[in-house]
Amino acid sequence: MPLWTPASWRRCPARQMPAYPDGEQLARVEDRLSALPPLVCANEVQTLRAELARVAQGEAFLLQGGDCAESFAEFSTSTIRDTFRVLMQMAVVLTFGSSCHVVKVGRIAGQFAKPRSADTEERDGHALPVYRGDIVNDTAFTAQAREPDPERMLTAYYQAAATLNLLHTLAQGGDASLEQVHAWNLDFVQATPAAHDYQQLAARIDETLGFMRACGFDTANSETVKKTCLYTSHEALLLPYEQALTHQGPEGHWYDLSGHMLWIGDRTREPQGAHVEFARGIANPLGLKVGPSLKADELLGLLDTLNPDNAPGRITLIARMGAEQIEDKLPALVRAVKKEGRQVIWSSDPMHGNTTTVNGYKTRHIDNILREIRSFFAIHQAEGTRVGGIHLEMTGQNVTECLGGNPQVTEEALEKRYRTRCDPRLNANQALETAFLIADTLKVCRQSQEQASRPC
Ligand code: PEP
Ligand code: CO
Repeated sequence: MPLWTPASWRRCPARQMPAYPDGEQLARVEDRLSALPPLVCANEVQTLRAELARVAQGEAFLLQGGDCAESFAEFSTSTIRDTFRVLMQMAVVLTFGSSCHVVKVGRIAGQFAKPRSADTEERDGHALPVYRGDIVNDTAFTAQAREPDPERMLTAYYQAAATLNLLHTLAQGGDASLEQVHAWNLDFVQATPAAHDYQQLAARIDETLGFMRACGFDTANSETVKKTCLYTSHEALLLPYEQALTHQGPEGHWYDLSGHMLWIGDRTREPQGAHVEFARGIANPLGLKVGPSLKADELLGLLDTLNPDNAPGRITLIARMGAEQIEDKLPALVRAVKKEGRQVIWSSDPMHGNTTTVNGYKTRHIDNILREIRSFFAIHQAEGTRVGGIHLEMTGQNVTECLGGNPQVTEEALEKRYRTRCDPRLNANQALETAFLIADTLKVCRQSQEQASRPC
């Protein structure tokens, strides 16, 4: 392998990169960014890697979720707090339902850049550069708004810093205490079946905590009860930003300190490309999106490049096949990875292969999302491998972006609160419903695995 440096990706073909009009301005922003403090610290990155190693070994489950694209306009305390609360609710449902430790990773505090299927967007015969996320340009359909602006990387950096600060307060400052499980239910998710199930579960947690107190366990002062940890992640797409935030740790390893976990998208995973080159040299845990066009030998080659030591916790394979294709495409990949003894976490992204357009809105039906999750579990059950995690686009807001659920979001309702900058997200109620389904399935899988490993 040729020598890796934080800049060696520049030698490789880079897809999905904006064409900045002013190279000098770009270089000035990159210099400025690299002089600013890192957003996360290397110790936390290492801790997440160790936690993910536990996931790879079947001792924990990975819950990864958040916005498709964070936006500058929707940046507020309530958006962050509500997403945090729904993630906490989902984690509790999964932990309680499956008796399995849950590692929580947000698509947050850096999830700004978006890969797109075309470089330009055309309206009424007029073509402009496509919107690539708030870190690059603006959604408005004017030449000025669509021109990539490097200063936006600084705005994204400061927004990520403020987001991390709030997340830290929420995780450590009492809001995340298990004694608050009831308070996490958001006002608009009150009378739904998922909320009802959640309240029942919260009551059982209360009872359990009461029992522990009665036994003399000091729950009010227990770190495990009072605090939590939410790691951050995003797609490492905009490489000038990622490079600028890459720093060398004391032991010589390089870390991309823009977030704890970074992933390579389905559109930028070509083996000789810039994104793979950048990712192979950083010591962060990596996600790799696995879409229907990826072949088994190509996947094994990528694993050689990205994880030559075959270290558990380094790689999470995030399958995003779509409910229609998963049964056809995934088993061969799972089999190949197992046969070669590769240490990976298999996680399911049931969002990106199930996108359709209805009444001009990009949407996803929750039935297809749940169908893909069920197939994902069934395939791993059949192959004798483990489901390690779930990867969702979701929000704590009461949006109408994905169809279905109970109560249903109908096709007519999509226009009511359709707010996403890019892909449709599960609203808080749909996210909770999904968590219950996963918890039930996980429980059954773990029970049958335990039975299988028990000596006769
Ligand atoms: C995403 O996760 O927002 C995304 C673009 O996914 P993919 O690379 O799987 O299409
Ligand atoms: Co998306």
